[in-house]
Amino acid sequence: MSLADCYKKVRQLSVRICSPLQIEDYVVQPVVDVSPPKWHIGHTTWFFETFILKPYFMGYQEFNADYNYVFNSYYETVGNRVIRTDRGNLSRPTVADIYKYRTYVDDAMENFLREEPSAAIRELMILGLNHEEQHQELLYYDIKYILGHNPLFPAYDETYRPQVFEQPTAQWISMPEGIYEVGFEGEGFCFDNELNRHKVYLNSYQINTAMVTNAEYLEFINDNGYHDFRFWHAEGWDWVKNNHVEAPLYWHHINGQWFNYTYAGLKPVDLAAPVCHISYYEAYAYASWKGMRLPTEFEWEAAAHQFKWGKSWEWTESAYLPYPGFKKAEGAIGEYNGKFMVSQKVLRGSSEVTSPGHERVTYRNFFHPNLRWLFCGIRLAR
Ligand code: AVJ
Ligand code: FE
Repeated sequence: MSLADCYKKVRQLSVRICSPLQIEDYVVQPVVDVSPPKWHIGHTTWFFETFILKPYFMGYQEFNADYNYVFNSYYETVGNRVIRTDRGNLSRPTVADIYKYRTYVDDAMENFLREEPSAAIRELMILGLNHEEQHQELLYYDIKYILGHNPLFPAYDETYRPQVFEQPTAQWISMPEGIYEVGFEGEGFCFDNELNRHKVYLNSYQINTAMVTNAEYLEFINDNGYHDFRFWHAEGWDWVKNNHVEAPLYWHHINGQWFNYTYAGLKPVDLAAPVCHISYYEAYAYASWKGMRLPTEFEWEAAAHQFKWGKSWEWTESAYLPYPGFKKAEGAIGEYNGKFMVSQKVLRGSSEVTSPGHERVTYRNFFHPNLRWLFCGIRLAR
């Protein structure tokens, strides 16, 4: 597929994800980590305008000089921006304005791509498309949070059904001690944080073929897991108490039965499905209640071809740190990943709302340990 066709396809998917939304759904920011959908639609457009059109398309006229302030996420190199907590306080630009911006930039990109871009611009384009795919997944998280925290529990799409995921029978895979290679290798795109490929030494370990299910997680809940400090980190225990956490995000106990908010609305918890929307703190506490632990990201990667993944991201025991030889790009793009390598945990795999083709065995997702609005679950190791 040509670059121009890839561009169109990726850009269309973001709009399609938003198509069930009403205007009001586009605007709110219920918590700091959730961005208004209209912000994602503008920010992903801003990325192409700022990093491709403005520097490389001769004669390009910026759509609106104020938009840099509104849609710059965190790039200090690119100037001041609206503070993150204020993203949901902006009734202007309107959703209609932002879609006009999107069309304007897409038209310019179409013209720009009539000529074959240089290898360097091509690389930036591919980063822009992968960036948009990351925001497609974030859009799904944010839409679920916005609708799922409305007391009326409106459905995103009544007909939405999660991808079929045959949970394999739980079995232990035994991995011998030794030296393994991790990190990206080969043709195609990867993020800078997947480099360099390097060797790691692993002690022998076992990792499970199956993810922890809702039924198994319920045993932890029913065994008082949320009320026994012995299973928790100090930070996790404070988090549980301060936030009165008793169950995964989106779970509701109604007339003695557990329900779960899904894109199709409130549904009874599916006991056979992998548990989802739990923080790293909860994943850790569950594992320690079991007398087990989470795999490190390297243990996960070394064994990943032997189990099925992809329904939800899997919390690992690993801190998000640079690999040996990690190099930041020059300029603003160098701010993309590297500056977040502090106080976050790595998640591996992909999720049911990861954009098609965006997953990779070496992919390193990362979030703070208290977050659980992403699709995230537990695979055990020992
Ligand atoms: C990799 C999902 C943690 O949410 O900031 C979006 C993705 N990077 N724009 C994030 C990202 C730049 C990133 N995560
Ligand atoms: Fe971004």
